[in-house]
Amino acid sequence: MELSQIEKDFLKEIEKVESLEELQNLKVKYLGRKGALTQILRSLKELPLEERKKIGKEANVLKEKMEKLILEKEKTLKEIEERKKLEREKVDLTCPGKKISLGHLHPLSLVLREIKEIFQKMGFEVVEGPEIETCFYNFDALNVPEDHPARDLWSTLWLEKNYLLRTHTSPVQVRYLEKHQPPFRIIAPGRVFRHERTDAHHEIQFYQVEGLMVGKDVSLANFKAVILHFFKEFFKEKVEIRLRPSYFPFTEPSVEVDIRLSAKRKAQSAKVNTKGKAQSAKEEGWLEVMGAGMVHPKVFEAARLNPLRWQGFAFGVGVDRLAMIKYKIPDIRLFYQGDLRFIRQF
Ligand code: DAH
Repeated sequence: MELSQIEKDFLKEIEKVESLEELQNLKVKYLGRKGALTQILRSLKELPLEERKKIGKEANVLKEKMEKLILEKEKTLKEIEERKKLEREKVDLTCPGKKISLGHLHPLSLVLREIKEIFQKMGFEVVEGPEIETCFYNFDALNVPEDHPARDLWSTLWLEKNYLLRTHTSPVQVRYLEKHQPPFRIIAPGRVFRHERTDAHHEIQFYQVEGLMVGKDVSLANFKAVILHFFKEFFKEKVEIRLRPSYFPFTEPSVEVDIRLSAKRKAQSAKVNTKGKAQSAKEEGWLEVMGAGMVHPKVFEAARLNPLRWQGFAFGVGVDRLAMIKYKIPDIRLFYQGDLRFIRQF
């Protein structure tokens, strides 16, 4: 074959090459051991000297030209491939991210947060006490002596020796009084435990918030103002309250606090109030929500504070109960069952 023809063919073919593989095949086809050009170079020895020189020279020039073109093509193809690879691996930083599915707070956590916030705004400090208590803090220091029938008010979950699962948050009062000099105001939220049968209104564990405000002249009138403000903020509506005389060993006098919400809530709230209150009270829409009173002198004494110098009010409120009223939840057990159909509603 003529060199010029080989060159023409080669140029045409290399033009069409699109991959490194094709290029390699082309290289073999022309410059390989059985390649078109190789064959010419090999057949040179059969030619007369003059022609051999002439054609040999031309063939070598062509060979170099082809090699050069192949190298150039190889470079271009590699660049294209590199660019394609980058294109494939490109990260679009402007892409919106995959949405992370976040959980949310349990209704009791929501309510606890709200309660803390309202009291903090009134200057109350939030403190905590242990869930495992001693007899001293849970009963004795709160003026509930060993043989006092008031111990029957709580059915306690006893642990080894002197320990028990606290039946209320009131022991935190004593723990705080022991270590701090009045005046102060605190709330102590936390979990408490009772050994009792569960039903729509009783659980073996639930949450309370204890309150304690002590100073030189802190009175029950102060309590009324604080608590009225709290309920208004918590229920975000006008709330009526009333104090009824009651009895707790650690307060004197003792009261129970009832609240009455606006008419639109009343119907539902009455359902919640099934604690065996008189029918007439239910119809009036009063809900019993909290125990309170003026701190008993014996409690100050147990914490080695002088009851003639200091006075104050204390209260205890059930968080679950407040949450039930607020969200119209008919059964306390729903809080602890982890049923997503319930929890997802908040
Ligand atoms: N500890 C009481 C209970 O669990 C509630 C209570 C009543 C707390 C009166 C108080 C209080 O601080 O003054 O039933």
